[in-house]
Amino acid sequence: MKGKVDALLGIVFGDEGKGKVVDFFTPRYDVVARFAGGPNAGHTIIFGGQKFVLRSIPSGIFNENAINIIGNGCVIAPDLFMQEAQELEAAGYTLTQRLHISRRAHLILPTHRVLDRAYEAAKGKDRVGTTGKGIGPTYSDKAARVGLRVGDILDNFEEKYARLKARHEQILRDLHFTDYDIREEEARWMEGVAYMRRFPLKDTEIEINEMLDAGRSVLAEGAQGSLLDIDHGTYPFVSSSSTTIGGVCTGLGVAPSRIGRVFGIFKAYSTRVGAGPFPVELFDATGDRIRDIGHEYGAVTGRNRRCGWIDLVALRYAITINGVTDLVMMKSDVLDTFETIRVCTAYKKGDDVLCHMPYDTAGWEAVYEDVPGWKTSLSAVRSEKDFPKAFADYIAYLEKALDAPIRIVSVGPDREETVMRE
Ligand code: GDP
Ligand code: IMO
Ligand code: MG
Repeated sequence: MKGKVDALLGIVFGDEGKGKVVDFFTPRYDVVARFAGGPNAGHTIIFGGQKFVLRSIPSGIFNENAINIIGNGCVIAPDLFMQEAQELEAAGYTLTQRLHISRRAHLILPTHRVLDRAYEAAKGKDRVGTTGKGIGPTYSDKAARVGLRVGDILDNFEEKYARLKARHEQILRDLHFTDYDIREEEARWMEGVAYMRRFPLKDTEIEINEMLDAGRSVLAEGAQGSLLDIDHGTYPFVSSSSTTIGGVCTGLGVAPSRIGRVFGIFKAYSTRVGAGPFPVELFDATGDRIRDIGHEYGAVTGRNRRCGWIDLVALRYAITINGVTDLVMMKSDVLDTFETIRVCTAYKKGDDVLCHMPYDTAGWEAVYEDVPGWKTSLSAVRSEKDFPKAFADYIAYLEKALDAPIRIVSVGPDREETVMRE
């Protein structure tokens, strides 16, 4: 839509396939912008026999005509950014003029990563299971008004860096977490800072609004998922940013009236990586089977993803919070061989049954309805008219239960393995 910001948001626990769909959508947009998160994200894109996993760089980067923006709501680790950008440059993509970085985005220091480990260690059995990328400590410093921003690298940086690092070292001493050595990492990080200076470091919020005024279209690429949102997720087992629709406005500097369509992306089943309540989690052979077929191992940390059936309670909640206009269902092919597909329609605890998201999902069990599986490979399907009947019925069932249209169905990891519905 011209002059509007459409958003593509993960609406569950992340890893829904955002990277694939943003890349698929990019030819329709002039600008692709990340508004939240940092290298805790791992967005996989597969085309022409090549596979890329992006962490901080928006997934519109493979379209040479699109401007890609890392917005003010993001946090960025210069060393990891440099590595990611250099991998793309080695693959033949020129980035510097079409990858713009907000001067207001915050920097993840090496000591933020040490703090992430220290806080997790201190939490013991209550740890969040973070990605260890320093996300929580960096957003904490932002809120505490002591953080460093990308714009800081342009002016008197060494001194500001030393001051924040000293503050972190003091906290680490207080936590008795002193067994770390960041010297090599720090050298590489400083190299990353120097490397970042060759990119346009801009007031991207002004730039985006000017582009919208000129009738250009923007796609906001979500990171993580709605249930990992700092406000609306399964707190405290969440990430530290606003991953939901409000984060698009604050993380890019665009007004709510500029928001167009909101695409909510989910898988045909559920996964979660890291700790926290997960009522649909399967601890049995079915869970293992979903993990094996779906290759549910983290793109960033390699951890096993916890697997379960689709959760309509969580989806309805996320659709409401985000004002989702269109749904995108991923990894449908993973369920190709299942005789029966289960759908969580409610949660129960003793005699209590809930159809909406409770304050705390811990201790609630899933209530299921069963629908027949389609038992046919979907991989070669490119048009809705070729859907097996049981699969078309599954889609119709979900649309009715969620009261929103499923516009895109993904049947494999490749860019081509995608079905658009009218
Ligand atoms: P993101 O973080 O939301 O971008 O998702 P990830 O990249 O972390 O995880 C999605 C994984 O599923 C990646 O390995 C993708 O290559 C893969 N994938 C995406 N869509 C499909 C699909 O429709 N079918 C299958 N089998 N795999 C898919
Ligand atoms: P993408 O964008 C799935 C999870 C971590 C942990 C919690 C907090 O690829 O979908 P953090 O390092 O952010 O402080 O970790 O959030 N998490 C993700 N899970 N996909 C992601 O990103 C995630 N980013 C963070 O596993 O439970
Ligand atoms: Mg991911």
